[in-house]
Amino acid sequence: MTKKKIVVLTGAGISAESGISTFRDSGGLWEKYDISEVATPGAWERNMDLVIDFYNSRRKQLHEVKPNAGHYALVKLEEKYDVDIITQNVDDLHERAGSSKVLHLHGELKKVRSSVDENLVYELKGWEMKKGDTCERGSQLRPHIVWFGEPVPMIPRAAEITSTADIYIIIGTSLNVYPAAGLVNYVKPGVPIYIIDPGEVYATHIPNVKFIKEKAGHGTPKLVEELLSKAG
Ligand code: APR
Repeated sequence: MTKKKIVVLTGAGISAESGISTFRDSGGLWEKYDISEVATPGAWERNMDLVIDFYNSRRKQLHEVKPNAGHYALVKLEEKYDVDIITQNVDDLHERAGSSKVLHLHGELKKVRSSVDENLVYELKGWEMKKGDTCERGSQLRPHIVWFGEPVPMIPRAAEITSTADIYIIIGTSLNVYPAAGLVNYVKPGVPIYIIDPGEVYATHIPNVKFIKEKAGHGTPKLVEELLSKAG
């Protein structure tokens, strides 16, 4: 029997209990840093050192944290479902937990790429990228991150995956950032949608939503158990 397809859209909230700050909660990253100074192409042109430092500290922190019960529950879901994860996160906690299909919409912290050819992508050893580190064509490396104002190349693929969902789960995202927040529009009519988030998520426009107002580390394992028992 073919397995039903579950598509999961995750955001910073799923990694919060691992110790990684979200962006827009109180005390979140965008309260401490000015987006336009660290996460835009203009910032890279004006102040490369600051941008490099910002992502080096994010990467250093990533080496110190581990996946949590929310990430692991999504791995368990694969026992009875065909699971695709679409994540806005640049951490690798879904992969480290063991999820087999993970699509990163906004890039990956542990990778760097050429600043002249976006196809030259490299896995960084350790956490530090330095000014003067170059690609094979001799140009400065940059973080493999989709900055504000840049296109999101993975969106068409993510939309296609979303349209195949039999069940759609959204975890830990404020749904503030487009085009990621618009992916839900590709869910087929009638497909059940779950949102796991302890905060206020703007979702009045999303039909068939079941809210689970809990932290990911608690709400995800509960929903996963329920879905596994329904699958028989
Ligand atoms: N479990 C689940 N959700 C949580 C938890 C938790 N333990 N803690 C916080 N949250 C929720 C918040 O209530 C909020 O809805 O996670 C969400 C985090 O929202 P944002 O900080 O806006 O993060 P996200 O939606 O992932 O941001 C999208 O914006 O800055 C860019 O590129 C960055 O990928 C990021 C994008």
